[in-house]
Amino acid sequence: MPIIFVLNGPNLNALGKREPGIYGGQTLADIEALCRSEGERLGLSIDFRQTNHEGVLVDWFHEANEVAAGIAVNAGAYTHTSIALHDAARAIRIPMVELHLSNVHAREEFRHKSMIAPAAKGVICGFGAQSYILALNALKTLTHTAE
Ligand code: DQA
Repeated sequence: MPIIFVLNGPNLNALGKREPGIYGGQTLADIEALCRSEGERLGLSIDFRQTNHEGVLVDWFHEANEVAAGIAVNAGAYTHTSIALHDAARAIRIPMVELHLSNVHAREEFRHKSMIAPAAKGVICGFGAQSYILALNALKTLTHTAE
């Protein structure tokens, strides 16, 4: 079964408590459960992770490139700031889909810029937890495993 890394960046461990008006009431564990059941439905093996550390995300991009068929990433605020993640995204050969719970384009100006979008196959934002499900479906298609 193809492995998909679902990577989560800073502050996403606080989902459920963190600005629920923007990010919703679901915890990261709730979202992980959703991803696992969608993974089962799609025939994808989900490796779901979260870190608050930029370099760890970089390491996971490189690791995914060795063992996974694709990456779905919500890099949180590092999306907007990280040249290291931009370079990591450029260095991999597997498809990467950027995702966000909120519609970053309807928010503060500093969220409109993504450092990783230029290296992404596509960007999904604004659908809450459903953004993760949409990203998995996009990766299913991109990895040519669709039946
Ligand atoms: C986010 C949007 C980012 O701008 C923010 O820094 C986050 C969460 C989202 O999922 O909507 O931490 O990536």
